[in-house]
Amino acid sequence: MTSTVPSKSFNSPHTLRAWRKLEDLAKPGSVEHLRVLLSDSVRSQSMNAKLHGLELDYSHQRVTSEVLTALAELAQECHLSQQIQALFGGERVNVTENRAALHMALRGQGVDSPPWGQSIQLQVNTELERVCAFVDQFESGQLRGYTDEPFTDVVNLGIGGSALGPLTCVEALEGVNPSARAKVHFVSNVDAWSLWQTLKVLNPRTTLFIVQSKTFTTQETSLLAQSAKRWLLDQGCSQESLAKHLVAVTARADLALAQGYLPDQTFHFWDWVGGRYSVWSAIGLPVALAIGQVNFKRLLAGARAMDEHFASTPTLQNIPIVMALLGIWNRNFLGAPSHHIATYAYRLKGLTPYIQQLDMESNGKGTHINGSPVQVQTAPIVWGGLGIDGQHAYFQLIHQGEHLLAVDFIGVRQDPTCPLPLAGEHMRCLHLSMIAQAHAMAVGRDESHTRQEMQSQGLNTEKIDELAPHRSFKGNTPSSSIWLEELDAFSLGMLMALYEHKTFVQATIWGINPFDQWGVELGKTMAQQLSMSPQK
Ligand code: F6P
Repeated sequence: MTSTVPSKSFNSPHTLRAWRKLEDLAKPGSVEHLRVLLSDSVRSQSMNAKLHGLELDYSHQRVTSEVLTALAELAQECHLSQQIQALFGGERVNVTENRAALHMALRGQGVDSPPWGQSIQLQVNTELERVCAFVDQFESGQLRGYTDEPFTDVVNLGIGGSALGPLTCVEALEGVNPSARAKVHFVSNVDAWSLWQTLKVLNPRTTLFIVQSKTFTTQETSLLAQSAKRWLLDQGCSQESLAKHLVAVTARADLALAQGYLPDQTFHFWDWVGGRYSVWSAIGLPVALAIGQVNFKRLLAGARAMDEHFASTPTLQNIPIVMALLGIWNRNFLGAPSHHIATYAYRLKGLTPYIQQLDMESNGKGTHINGSPVQVQTAPIVWGGLGIDGQHAYFQLIHQGEHLLAVDFIGVRQDPTCPLPLAGEHMRCLHLSMIAQAHAMAVGRDESHTRQEMQSQGLNTEKIDELAPHRSFKGNTPSSSIWLEELDAFSLGMLMALYEHKTFVQATIWGINPFDQWGVELGKTMAQQLSMSPQK
């Protein structure tokens, strides 16, 4: 892997020609209101991209073909293609830690001549085989605890990237592997109640703990592991049998082995895998236990399909690039300080927290790659959750508040797995709600239409005069709609890889490093200093 030291001649993107063109295009009145843009059906049909059943509809974004062209020019002026090649080629794109970022290699098994090289691929494939062999042993009941009973429950102890990716996948793929032996639980928070809520319903004899930590020094996870061990011992497990109940997944296998974890139950990943990009590695062990190794490999295959699309598709047909550029337009030119994720599938309830870490820990940066203070705004505040619940909680602000924000609506077209007899009706309600909300946010309802609506409801003129301002909607809130054909492992892999690559593209445009996270250090250091200061 060659190193890529950022040239000191780095130019902040706001100095680029395309940036200035976009500033002109963003001036008030330059782009029509969405209720006008959406009246052009040819435009709407063109703002669409598909990949293996995943569909991006960005017709509800406040862009014209002229804006899209200028955004593509911006990408070119930021040398995006070269940066994508550097990423896939294993160059040290994580410039402050002098590391590559090769999460794509984790899903690359079966790639003939990987751009990151065969030796890395061999390491990845070998560890994946170890993970799959462990899953086989667990499934067959070979893995047993201190009373020689086979394990049934798995508790993932980890936080951030050592929890959010696996949790998202296990929840999203509920139902794909009903015969799985493993029931997987997640504990990330150091509050004792978060661990007790899980332990109080578990049988210590048949419970396996997976301690997930890239650094193996995260204090919350260490304390959770210490408490879990104490629980096992108090419940009758001998010190000698303790290690049977423990699995370590880490980039520091030396630390795990030194703490007594069994070599066969210690899984490794590499420093060129960022924590928030690590679900595809052995960090995905709880996912493989829950969904089975066939589905886990389909998850990897879905991500690989998105990798191949990302690395080979022209800019304005490239789904991650288009999403990233639209985000740049909304953030840096329309001035939206936040980005909302609205998921219209209950099993995707973990997706927003996952994207929050992926996006805000990657791009919540204030320093350009050459060490100079940023001259442009970087990551927006990412928030959101289940759309249906949001409609009854905070959508009021989106519809009539004073904040400009952009929305990603994420939905699933069909679900053959839910056993309820009226599942089809539920799905139809989800679809109609997602479509209606995107449209309402875009077109709004001006006062004249509001008056007509109230007249049709039989309200008198005086009441109409009073309420019309309160019941009108400015609209013009931009959104993209992402549809999965089904919520299966392959589609989920594509979706999660899509957001990884979107994050990378935005970092490239902003000229920041998405792969370090120095900002999380200060709080930890102060907490450690406090823990060592004399008790007050
Ligand atoms: O503090 C932030 C962070 O380092 C994340 O980047 C990471 O995913 C999480 O903490 C957990 O870190 P580890 O996997 O090393 O325990």
